[in-house]
Amino acid sequence: MSENREQWGSKFGFIMAAAGSAVGLGNIWRFPYITGKYGGGAFVLVYLAVVVIIGMSVMLAEFSIGRNAKLDAVGSFRKLGGGVWPIVGWMGFICAFVILSYYAVIAGWAFAYIFKSFGGLMAAAEAGKAADAFVGFIANPVQAVAYHILVMVIVVGIVCKGISGGIEKSCKVLMPALFAIILILIVRSVTLPGAGAGLEFYLKPDFSKLTGEAILAAVGQGFFSLSLAMGIMVTYGSYISKDEYLPGSVRYVVCLDTLVAFLSGLVIFPAAAAFGIEAGAGAGLTFITLPAVFAKMPMGSLFSCAFFMLLFIAALTSAISLFEVTVAYGIDQLKMNRMKASLVLGVLIALLGIPSALSQGAVPINIAGKSFLDAADFITNNVIMPLGAIFICIFVGWFWTDGAKAEITDNGKLVFPMYTIWLWICRIVAPVALALIFVNGLKW
Ligand code: PHE
Repeated sequence: MSENREQWGSKFGFIMAAAGSAVGLGNIWRFPYITGKYGGGAFVLVYLAVVVIIGMSVMLAEFSIGRNAKLDAVGSFRKLGGGVWPIVGWMGFICAFVILSYYAVIAGWAFAYIFKSFGGLMAAAEAGKAADAFVGFIANPVQAVAYHILVMVIVVGIVCKGISGGIEKSCKVLMPALFAIILILIVRSVTLPGAGAGLEFYLKPDFSKLTGEAILAAVGQGFFSLSLAMGIMVTYGSYISKDEYLPGSVRYVVCLDTLVAFLSGLVIFPAAAAFGIEAGAGAGLTFITLPAVFAKMPMGSLFSCAFFMLLFIAALTSAISLFEVTVAYGIDQLKMNRMKASLVLGVLIALLGIPSALSQGAVPINIAGKSFLDAADFITNNVIMPLGAIFICIFVGWFWTDGAKAEITDNGKLVFPMYTIWLWICRIVAPVALALIFVNGLKW
């Protein structure tokens, strides 16, 4: 079947799709915050080292597995490793399936806020009621579920059109749009009076805050942000043509992801500082703090709308990649056609997302004290993801070593000068770093 396998139409399109996967909520609502918290410019340097050393290595490993096997994540590990290795592919599949179920819920909130920016949101925020507006919105069962389903419909609608005709085509438009919006927002933010204090908090290096915890935070953020160990880069890799130089593609994707993360901080901190509002992290920052900031700006509705479009695009292109992991499984393993796989898996994931959507205030759906959404997030990101990543490194580092080398160098035709360094990162450095974040992240 591999002769008929779909492929990316162009290198640019593939890079946009992979960068679209990497650039997501993590870049916009988490990177700026942890950077501010762990020492500004000093943390940025550590983060850069982590993504260059570990992130690039694991992404390269994933691309090479996928391109060689030309199958979905489960099939790739079955074909190249056999034995128990398909379990690693399964871990990716489960992560993608579960993460998408709640990621679509959050993407739905962003989608709703694009329009709410012109409704009562700015007035509520101006009256100091941004938190009430948000809590009321996500606790409304009909809205929470409706927006979640709407996002799933959009995702299914794009992915069912295929790799080049659906995913690539949409990402080629969405990603440049994302860059344009972020640049507009930066210009607005840094030209506000009083913006300098925010820039200083964000970027002034403070090496005393660079603790062991900060370094672990950098590793965890790097993995999440690059969409590693979820089967995504294996799956996307399976559509790359043989004449692509993989380390080159990896460089582009990692640079773009890191750039957007860095730029998001230039939007958030100067604006928050200009209005004397403290910037936190996560949903609170994006859906409560920022509306309060926009409400104080001239033409705040417009900038609020632009920001939530940015957030929605970032989340949508990541959701697409999560969905493709599951659809590729349906096509390659269950022998469905793309349309059927998209519909069946789309419905299943949408259903699983409903308890997450409802768990945010509408109905108390808890697992051992965490909301359903938070529990799903914990199990995938703190448990399955680091374990899967360790096994991927061990797989290419110790088991499928010659295969990986042949794949990356196109059987020796291309030079990959960093090969030995890459190999030892996969063998030792990355598994150790991942084991540390795994153990550290096991606090429920
Ligand atoms: N990389 C995305 C982000 O930074 C999140 C993501 C993780 C997307 C895993 C897909 C899979 O938000």
